[in-house]
Amino acid sequence: MSTNIHEHTFEINKAKRQELLKQKAVLVWFTGLSGSGKSTVAGMLERKLFDLNFKTYLLDGDNVRGGLNSNLSFSIEDRKENIRRVAEVARLFLDSGTVVLASFVSPLEEYRTLVKEIVGSENYVEVFVDTPLEECEKRDVKGLYEKARKGLIKDFTGISSPYEKPVNPDICIDTSKLSLENSVNLIFEKIKDKITHH
Ligand code: PPS
Repeated sequence: MSTNIHEHTFEINKAKRQELLKQKAVLVWFTGLSGSGKSTVAGMLERKLFDLNFKTYLLDGDNVRGGLNSNLSFSIEDRKENIRRVAEVARLFLDSGTVVLASFVSPLEEYRTLVKEIVGSENYVEVFVDTPLEECEKRDVKGLYEKARKGLIKDFTGISSPYEKPVNPDICIDTSKLSLENSVNLIFEKIKDKITHH
């Protein structure tokens, strides 16, 4: 718990930074099973935004867990702490005026609600990458499902740890049905107005 903390208000604020960058900052949060295509779609969306001159930053589960969150496991409590820290990092990036993309399994509704609380619901766009478990397991890009089925990885999402489907996502995409390009375009159309400085 932080005590004796007095927050400063600085002259250069989010509104001024957004004005300089000629954009508005939002957080596009990708949730879905491992192997559902979150990172691929997020990466392609970032490419599109970058080409359109938006200043972006992509936070990704595997990458953040290699550094900032390297001390965290996949237990229910550690996943929550993983998501909480990422949400706080996203909040700083949003304050810098950056369009933030975040790709995390974030398997429980409680975690996603926490993100929304931390960054403010007006800044939060939720993308549910709803690729069925069977398809993710068939792809098994990292070989993790095979290991999880053999019991070599514990608490594996969808196998030995729960995934709660989002209650009210802003966008829903199933990468086994929709092409990557169409998925990216769908999200872009949804956020275009929110990130454009009028
Ligand atoms: S979480 O639940 O949001 O804290 O997970 P996240 O930080 O996104 O990390 C998911 C990536 O870690 C790898 N991995 C696992 N995923 C789920 N469950 C278990 N037990 C696990 N162990 C390792 C996996 O590569 C995930 O990456 P993606 O990109 O989702 O496939």
